[in-house]
Amino acid sequence: MKHEGTGMMKRMLWIFSLCLILYSCKEPLTEEVQAEIQVIPRPQVITVLEGTFEMTSKTSIKANRDLMVQAEQLRDYLSPASGYVLPINKRHTGGNLIELKLLDELSTLGEEGYEMTITSKKVLITAHRPKGIIWGIQTLRQLFPVEILREAAVDDVAWELPCVNILDKPRFEWRGLMIDYSRTFWNISHTKKYIDALSYYKMNRLHMHLTDDQGWRIEIEKYPALTEIASQFDTVYHEPREREGYYSREDIRELVRYAEARGVELIPEIEMPGHTTEVFAAYPELSCTGDTLSVHPFFMGPGIHNEIFCAGKKETFEFLENVLSEVSELFPSEYIHIGGDEAPKVLWKTCPHCQRVIKEYSLKDEDELQSWFIRQVEGYIQSKGKKLIGWDEITEGGLSGTATVMFWRAGMENALLSAVEQGNMVILTPTSHCYFDYTYDRISTEKVYSLESIIDKIETLNPGKILGVQANFWSHIDRTEPGMDRQIFPRLLVLAEVGWTEALNREWDHFSPRLEHHYQSLDLLDIYYTDE
Ligand code: ACM
Ligand code: ZN
Repeated sequence: MKHEGTGMMKRMLWIFSLCLILYSCKEPLTEEVQAEIQVIPRPQVITVLEGTFEMTSKTSIKANRDLMVQAEQLRDYLSPASGYVLPINKRHTGGNLIELKLLDELSTLGEEGYEMTITSKKVLITAHRPKGIIWGIQTLRQLFPVEILREAAVDDVAWELPCVNILDKPRFEWRGLMIDYSRTFWNISHTKKYIDALSYYKMNRLHMHLTDDQGWRIEIEKYPALTEIASQFDTVYHEPREREGYYSREDIRELVRYAEARGVELIPEIEMPGHTTEVFAAYPELSCTGDTLSVHPFFMGPGIHNEIFCAGKKETFEFLENVLSEVSELFPSEYIHIGGDEAPKVLWKTCPHCQRVIKEYSLKDEDELQSWFIRQVEGYIQSKGKKLIGWDEITEGGLSGTATVMFWRAGMENALLSAVEQGNMVILTPTSHCYFDYTYDRISTEKVYSLESIIDKIETLNPGKILGVQANFWSHIDRTEPGMDRQIFPRLLVLAEVGWTEALNREWDHFSPRLEHHYQSLDLLDIYYTDE
């Protein structure tokens, strides 16, 4: 009880001091200061101090064993451009110093917050948890001259940092990007580039849309035909080989490790009950009709098929449980996404198996059957210690009280408000602001910043129910790596700031020049972008 009380006091003190500091920072930063502090997303509290810190060949990194991964990551980030391989020590051994440290008393900063103080002699990054240290390191990288991102040594740059104190923590827990791997398969090195970019901008979820009508993209040991058949386009379409394929179990493990070291969690999505015709190319017995289908590229067949998983066959649930069991083992994530969108119920209406379940459980109609279907799957996911996320169609026919809903249909305001009223957590990814496969004419870079209007409405009516925000990239139109990059950048940087920085502490006129400054960073990160 005493402990709880102390925690509460600390929390109140934190909020009070944050409000005070935010209030005192409301004055726009001066131009000289802005020139130095070009961080995206904008940290919550910045206090500029006198002087600079210079990294030289004598600089060392100090960290305890529990932060060794982060210390090594920091050394590896700084060494290619500077040419210095900074030694990592437990004690200070002379020269100036970058110190990483976990502190119990920083619990008010949560899982991801950090504090950074830079003086002429020392950079000190402290946090309650290692993830906070990772985000402090990303801020530090952004404070260095941008050439620090170069992959080869640069001779004529002084590696100076402005002296500053930064107190920072995210507004939302979930700051994500969804990549569609089905309509186009993206290889490991491209995915790693995206993980690097997400981490650089403190975005912490890569939602991997791994299955859909255009291909199954993850190896499942128990069902080899998913990769032998369902991951390949039918040969009649002559699709380029690089647009199909799948991640092996080892590939997934490698990506999970890579992402974890950079503060990014990989969230697998296995679609159901619709967008599953690729499965019926391999295992036709799982649909209502039992017809064998072929895998076709997008635009070479319907965008939405009537053939979906049969909700009345026990084989469907056996299959899904076996798949989800392997998926939960491979991905350490707290959440599994089960899709749930765009599932026509036409065949369920006449299928004797589906109609038997409707009768047996006294369900009103096929919408309630979908809700029943999702609850079966949620029970299984929960038995694996995980939580379920679904697209907003899972609100139809009765929404489970524990599911997290990803709202994508911009006109679904009533369903959104009723989900948060019911107590469900939501992730905002509306087509109006977050669909980065849409043209810039439809969703301009500035428009993404205005997602705040939707956030504000929900927060005012039901505070604390937004788990976070996410951009979605569907890969049916832009099917090349540069094309994909240009759809996502620079809009992703905007969403990064919306997800991280408190509304009170940001505005477009302040963001826009910082964004221009970051085009250089995108160049050096080998990311294509548009400045339209
Ligand atoms: C979706 O865009 N069908 C989730
Ligand atoms: Zn059926």
